[in-house]
Amino acid sequence: MGRLKIAVLISGRGTNMQALMDYCSTTDSAAEIKLVISNVPDAIGLKRASDAGIPTEVINHKRYSDRETFESVVTKTLKFHKIELVCLAGFMRLLTNSFVDCWRDKLINIHPSLLPAFKGINTHERALEAGVRFSGCTVHFVRGEMDSGPIVNQAVVPILADDNPDILAQRVLAAEHLCYTQALSLIARGKTEIVDEKVLIKGSESQDTIICNPKEKF
Ligand code: GAR
Repeated sequence: MGRLKIAVLISGRGTNMQALMDYCSTTDSAAEIKLVISNVPDAIGLKRASDAGIPTEVINHKRYSDRETFESVVTKTLKFHKIELVCLAGFMRLLTNSFVDCWRDKLINIHPSLLPAFKGINTHERALEAGVRFSGCTVHFVRGEMDSGPIVNQAVVPILADDNPDILAQRVLAAEHLCYTQALSLIARGKTEIVDEKVLIKGSESQDTIICNPKEKF
């Protein structure tokens, strides 16, 4: 079986894209990045991709009169490159239902919170404000409602006493890189199946320890 042909959609620095690139550059990876698309012409991630010899395309949403026209160009480009899985990696455009339906079960996203908590933006500020003891990230198949869809995997990070949004964001970002790589590997190796809008994972063990934060004994 050939490697899964993926595209990564970015809007910014592209560190998650870099993690996926690193995974795909390993000899036994089950996926290959065929294309990187950015809707932002000067996104730093574009240089990371082209330095690695990956084809890039800029599709600037500002040049299109509406979302549908912008997305139809994105879809046409993805189809031209015979893309089998689309990975959103810091792609900061809301997608219409028709785009999401067109790529149903072939479109994944990473979000910097433990969904369904803290959908949307400013996740770290809101987690700190809420006083939760853990945050983390989620990789999910994309559905029409923002930051929703069957969850592939999640990584948890503790919130520490002196955290501010930037420090927490860094800790979560490190977890994102691991989580997104694992999710891509699972999907590309055919280990995932969506049943009743939940992701079943074949042959993987779950964590079975309880983690308390704080870890003080009583
Ligand atoms: C990441 O934290 C990602 O989870 C977030 O944008 C950042 C992109 O960083 N995505 C969202 O908030 C989407 N809802 P990166 O460009 O370094 O990968």
